[in-house]
Amino acid sequence: MTALDDAPDTGKLPWHLRGNYAPVTDEVEAFDLPVTGQLPADLNGRYFRNGANPMNGPTAHWFMGDGMVHGTSIRDGKAEWYRNRWVRTGALEGKRRIDMSTGQMDFTVSLANTHVVRHAGKIFALEEGSFPYQLSPECDTIGPYDFDDKLRTPFTAHPHTCAETGEMHFFGYELVTAPFVTYHVLDTAGNLVHTQAIDVPGPTMVHDFAISRNYAIFMDLPVTFDLETAISGGMPFGWNPGYGARIGLLHRDRARQGEQPRWFDVDLCYVFHIMNAWDDGAEGRYVWLDAGRHASMWEGGSDKFAPSFLHRWRFDLHTGEVEEEQLDDVSHGFPRIDDRRTGLQNRYGWAVAPRTGTTRTAGTPSMDDASVIAKYDLADGASVTRHDMGPNAMFGEPSFVPREGATAEDDGYLVTYVFDKAEGSSSFVVLDAADMAAPPIATVKLPQRVPHGFRGSWFADE
Ligand SMILES: [Fe+2]
Repeated sequence: MTALDDAPDTGKLPWHLRGNYAPVTDEVEAFDLPVTGQLPADLNGRYFRNGANPMNGPTAHWFMGDGMVHGTSIRDGKAEWYRNRWVRTGALEGKRRIDMSTGQMDFTVSLANTHVVRHAGKIFALEEGSFPYQLSPECDTIGPYDFDDKLRTPFTAHPHTCAETGEMHFFGYELVTAPFVTYHVLDTAGNLVHTQAIDVPGPTMVHDFAISRNYAIFMDLPVTFDLETAISGGMPFGWNPGYGARIGLLHRDRARQGEQPRWFDVDLCYVFHIMNAWDDGAEGRYVWLDAGRHASMWEGGSDKFAPSFLHRWRFDLHTGEVEEEQLDDVSHGFPRIDDRRTGLQNRYGWAVAPRTGTTRTAGTPSMDDASVIAKYDLADGASVTRHDMGPNAMFGEPSFVPREGATAEDDGYLVTYVFDKAEGSSSFVVLDAADMAAPPIATVKLPQRVPHGFRGSWFADE
């Protein structure tokens, strides 16, 4: 229970509208914010985080609220500003994604609530059913973006930028007619340079994917779409074990000649979030994938979130076999790495997790026990250290920012928002990514509560 839960008028609302899931009602901005500790001199940029913040009354599901971006600007050791803005989308104006008379989808209608990324100098608020919404560096909405009219599918909320080429790899999934999944690549200038239909048998919900140096890796898992539920306004995705579960490896170079993924059957599961993937060469034998594996998702109702555990799949391209291994027995959410390791073997990863020894019970919402930030050291198994700010703290997803001149993989900062349950207030925090036991390097008190949300990015000054 939080102080906000105690408010008498919130008792009958669903969990995703109570406590720190409840939306904020105001767009505010504040300047020269109070700092405890010392903001690092080499931390210059903006932290943007997206989340669902319904504007016009209760929503049926946590994922269905209008996107709101919370931005904090840090420069020269000062917290310059905090600003929160709804993303001005077609959905916010009451437009519908599906034209009921024609069945046509309008990808400019978006909730734009899931992630916020930057590529080739453009900032995009993302939600996987629609086009990106371009934002200004001040969190204001510029509008839907279709890459010079070349993008004809939705754009995932989880694109991945190759650490070596700088290309942004992404996909879109669609729900009514094939192709249900389409793979795309943006070059470093932001041009859409590759688009390819991926063969999957039905309208599967594909939330994230992975790249290694030589492969794009697709999840084809048993959470599928139901059109009638969508038309009725409910949460249209559900657990469908008869669909099966497989993961596809698409050779990045041979994809340009139209090659399709090679599919590997895996144990039934769902994956929201990838940690990373890597391989042993363009003509090598193995590909490894680390991700948060849920034993099921929304089995028996769209509020039933089974916990995710860090899991490794090793794909053998010689034999076609897959080895699966659970790496940790404490659940986690929102795994991240140093983005300079995307597609390359990483030693470290960070995620939100429950305090030691408490594994989340299936069926509770995912942020309720995001009480610590866990650091995984994957050099030999998966040893875990934790940053713990006490029983009142609830963390959002951490983003890693390398220290200036850093060479070690964990030489840098973790930045995120943290909610204080006792005070009902939020802060932007800077942690030492190498030393999870160290106290926060700096804490910036924000002028209003930041509701639990989804994903964010640090945009270093360019
Ligand atoms: Fe996500």
